Amino acid sequence: MIHAIRMHENGGPEVLQWDEVEVGDPAAGEIRVRQTAVGLNYIDTYLRTGARPLPMPSVLGLEAAGVVVAAGDGVTNFVVGDRIAYADMPVGAYAEERVMPAHIAVKLPDDVADQTAAAAMLKGMTAQFLIRQCFRVEPGMTVLLHAAAGGVGLIASQWLNHLGVTVIGTVGSPEKAELAKAHGVHHVINYQTENFVDRIKEITDGAGVPVVYDGVGKDTLLDSMKCLSPRGTLVSFGNASGAPAPVNLGDLSTYGSIFVTRPMLFHYTATRDDLEACANELFDVISSAAVKIEINQTYPLKDAAQAHRDLEARKTTGSTVLLP
Ligand SMILES: NC(=O)c1ccc[n+]([C@@H]2O[C@H](COP(=O)([O-])OP(=O)(O)OC[C@H]3O[C@@H](n4cnc5c(N)ncnc54)[C@H](OP(=O)(O)O)[C@@H]3O)[C@@H](O)[C@H]2O)c1
Repeated sequence: MIHAIRMHENGGPEVLQWDEVEVGDPAAGEIRVRQTAVGLNYIDTYLRTGARPLPMPSVLGLEAAGVVVAAGDGVTNFVVGDRIAYADMPVGAYAEERVMPAHIAVKLPDDVADQTAAAAMLKGMTAQFLIRQCFRVEPGMTVLLHAAAGGVGLIASQWLNHLGVTVIGTVGSPEKAELAKAHGVHHVINYQTENFVDRIKEITDGAGVPVVYDGVGKDTLLDSMKCLSPRGTLVSFGNASGAPAPVNLGDLSTYGSIFVTRPMLFHYTATRDDLEACANELFDVISSAAVKIEINQTYPLKDAAQAHRDLEARKTTGSTVLLP
C-alpha cells in the first residue's frame, strides 16, 4: 500500500484525504512510477470542486516527476530506473506511486531536476503552446499576460522576454509586481488598483495589443477584449476567478473583428510528436537558463489541502511543488 491524496466527493480543500491505496502492476502500455515531486496546478482546484467532473473516489493531480519502477508489456521507450515526468490526464499524480500510461511520459534530461520538472511540465508546456503555437508571438510585439506572477505567468513572462516581446503583465499586489518585473515583465499593472484597459491604451498609445493571454477568466475576460488592436486575438486559457460569462458574438466585431480561442494544453500534446516537441522546447529554455523555474512554495504531499487553500487565496507565486 502507498499513500495518496484522494477525494471521495467534490468540495473545498477539506475533501482531500491522505488515504492508503493499492497500486497494481502496470498493464500493457503502462508504467509504474515512484514519484519524487508532484506539481500543483490551478486546474486541480476545478477538478476538486467538480467544475470538471471526475469519477469518485479519485486521486487528484496531473503532473509529476519520478522514477520508473516497472514497465508493462509493449512499453519500448522506458526501462526501469528511467527518470521521467509528465503533465496530462488521467488524474492520479498526488500519490507516492502510481500506474499510468507510458505514452504521456517523457524522459528527463540529466540537467533538469525532478522538482524543476514537477514545477514546469504543465505550466511550462502551457506557456510553450500559448506563445509558440496558439498565438505565435514575433519579436517586437507587445502583449498582455494576466496573472504574470503566477505559475504559468512567471514562466511565460521570461519566455516572451527571451523571444524579444514587450510584456505587459497584470498582478494582484505590489510584491507580485516586483516579482513580475524581475522575471521579464516590462510594464506591470496592478489590476486590483488600476484599470488595466486604460493602462493598456496608455502604454500602447491607443493602439492596443495583438494578443491577450487571459487565465483569470470571469473578472477580466470582457475587458481583455477591449485591450486588443483590430483583428487581435484573445486567448482565454483559464478561469482562476471563475468561469467567464458566455461571449457575445457581436462583441467580436465591436472590439475590432477580434478572435477568441479557448485552448487546452492536452489538445496541443495529444500525439507523441507534439508532446516531445513541446517538452523539448521547454527543456531547452530551462537548460539555457532563458527561463528559470521558480519553486516559491513546497508542501508535504499530505498537506495538499493547505496548498489548495493558499493557491485559491492568491497567496502563491510562481510554481508550487508537493513532496511525497
Ligand atoms: N488551458 C490550459 O491548458 C491550461 C493549462 C495550465 C493552466 N491553465 C490556467 O492557467 C491559469 C494559471 O494557472 P496556474 O496553475 O499557473 O495558477 P497561478 O497563476 O499560479 O494562480 C492563479 C492566479 O490567478 C490570479 N487570480 C486573479 N483572480 C483570482 C481569483 N479570484 N482567485 C484566485 N486567483 C486569482 C492570482 O494572481 P494575482 O493575485 O496576481 O491576480 C493567482 O495567483 C489558470 O487559470 C489555469 O487554469 C490552463
